[in-house]
Amino acid sequence: MGDGAHGVCVPWSTAQHPRCVPHGLSDLLRPDECRLIASSIATFQLGEQSEGRTLLRAAHRFAHGRRIPALVRVVELFIREEQHHAALLRAFMVDHHIALKRTDWTDRVFRLVRRLAGLELYLYILISAELIGIVYDRALETATDCQRLTVLCRGLVSDELAHIGFESQLLLALRAGRAAPVQALIRLAHRAFFAGTAGVVWLTHRSVLRKGGYRAPRFLRVCLSQHAFYLEPVNVALASGSVP
Ligand SMILES: [Fe+2]
Ligand SMILES: [Fe+2]
Repeated sequence: MGDGAHGVCVPWSTAQHPRCVPHGLSDLLRPDECRLIASSIATFQLGEQSEGRTLLRAAHRFAHGRRIPALVRVVELFIREEQHHAALLRAFMVDHHIALKRTDWTDRVFRLVRRLAGLELYLYILISAELIGIVYDRALETATDCQRLTVLCRGLVSDELAHIGFESQLLLALRAGRAAPVQALIRLAHRAFFAGTAGVVWLTHRSVLRKGGYRAPRFLRVCLSQHAFYLEPVNVALASGSVP
């Protein structure tokens, strides 16, 4: 990690050291496994694929207004990492003759909302997709016996956790600068949006999620606990002597 200007830390990023799936792993995907994941992984790959122009524009505006130029570099690296995720998934799909998608209604809705947003709202939408995405990745990882897909999913989760850590800190800092009632409203609105999005993801990817061990209640519970962990304020006072 390196310290950027004005307190924004530029995280070490695999965008500068692209993650690759090691050779020599079993790359067998049975026909039934292929049928199970094909449409779902294609939608997921589509979501990773973005030039990030809207996000970069929003980051430029925000960084300029608040005098935190290092933020633009961080966002550039995030975008590059997402593009690398899309490339890894595309290579896997091509090798297994899984058709790529050019469009999907869920992807269109996400992109439309993001286009209308400033950086803060954009980050809320992005972090929602990533928090739900890591639960999906863990399901996809166990939905087949393909080692290459398992390693690929674990790599994606590891990158997304770094993104989520940074984005959640930034969002909490932005939220903390607001009046208490506004903070409560933002929290409620985001939780409602998040729960609705998780519901849609369950409906549209339920075959893979079920195979990965997530029935609807468990999926929603795990997604919401991820959300609470990263985005709900924690007021824990450690009494002296309470830590062994
Ligand atoms: Fe990603
Ligand atoms: Fe990400």
